[in-house]
Amino acid sequence: MEIYIHLPFCKSKCAYCDFNSLPDCDEGTVFSYLSALNREIRLAGEAYGKAEIPTVYIGGGTPSLLDSGRIKSIMRVLREHFYVDENAEISIECNPESITEEKLADYKEAGINRISIGAQSLDDRNLKSIGRLHDSKTAISKIRLAGQYFDSVSCDVIVGLPYDDEGTVKEEIETLIPLVTHMSVYALTLEEGTPLALRAQEGKVLLPSDDETEDYLEIAQDILEKRGFFRYEVSNFAEEGKECRHNLGYWTDEEYLGLGAGAHSYIKTSDGKKALAAPIRFAHPKDIHAYIAGVNCAEAFDIIPRAEMRVLDEKDIFNESVMLGLRTAKGVKSDILNGCIPNELKGFFKEEGGYTSLTRSGAAVMNSLLVRILRL
Ligand SMILES: C[S@@+](CC[C@H](N)C(=O)[O-])C[C@H]1O[C@@H](n2cnc3c(N)ncnc32)[C@H](O)[C@@H]1O
Ligand code: SF4
Repeated sequence: MEIYIHLPFCKSKCAYCDFNSLPDCDEGTVFSYLSALNREIRLAGEAYGKAEIPTVYIGGGTPSLLDSGRIKSIMRVLREHFYVDENAEISIECNPESITEEKLADYKEAGINRISIGAQSLDDRNLKSIGRLHDSKTAISKIRLAGQYFDSVSCDVIVGLPYDDEGTVKEEIETLIPLVTHMSVYALTLEEGTPLALRAQEGKVLLPSDDETEDYLEIAQDILEKRGFFRYEVSNFAEEGKECRHNLGYWTDEEYLGLGAGAHSYIKTSDGKKALAAPIRFAHPKDIHAYIAGVNCAEAFDIIPRAEMRVLDEKDIFNESVMLGLRTAKGVKSDILNGCIPNELKGFFKEEGGYTSLTRSGAAVMNSLLVRILRL
């Protein structure tokens, strides 16, 4: 069972971000949240019988904003209540401006072995317009610094930002490649209600068109593949053996337990000590005060309030395995898709070793293919 730990604190809110994160929280709230998280880890450990953990992902928010002693303490509590595999992949999300040598050394001491850094762009005009707190020079120097401490360093890049053009995208990908072993390249999603979406609606910021953004993704993919990075999932590229095992688990039907406000879980066979007739998905309350109150009142893990609780039926299981599996280079077990791909669409798929995956042209039109395959 994989474990995801959510730390929802950020210094300020970026203009495009719709993640469950809070800017500038007071120390009392952070303290109460971390105490609740410790309690939840203990309750989860009791419920899941000290399950063996192959991957841990500490995400946010901005985990690197917290004092690294607190990250060490979370890892200590986790190891007290679960068997974290000695070869476990343990990742932490960091923002460039809050990375320091001391924190990197502490992460290493805590057994963390993979760092994921949100560069987003190497164009200072872009970084300013989306409200990032770092500049390109800081992004490059902190990614380089992380590389001195860790063998696995990833960075996130968003394309389709206001000042992107073919030249800037090419340059940033080429600059970042030698510094990392993994890169996530996302197309900007204009999330409703975010400051960036409002500015775009009011014509105060001009964004590249969808076609231009598609071209930037293609440019990034070409460069990455030429430089030995393998596209193992729609938005994720890695050197051989440097794929994110934790995220691969999400796409390949691994069970995971999400701890912290708004964190999602996927449990297949037993919910704590209760056997399940079908897999379930659920999330904790997104509001951190509701989460803290819920955990503090609960005497057992399954009493912590659950939002979005869903028992998966046969149709859900089919849809999810196709939707998630087709995001990956490996694909979906071919017997699951047997007879589901219309003849005229077969050119967008390829088969290898009992798995069906999308060709490059298929990946470019994935959503329209899914509409034809999924059971509605
Ligand atoms: C959990 S988020 C943020 C992690 C970290 N706090 C940071 O800002 O780097 C993980 C990644 O999702 C991507 N992301 C967040 N919002 C996005 C959006 N609206 N469109 C595209 N990518 C987004 C960013 O690349 C970000 O680094
Ligand atoms: S730092 Fe990361 S999580 Fe926080 S607001 Fe910005 S993108 Fe969102």
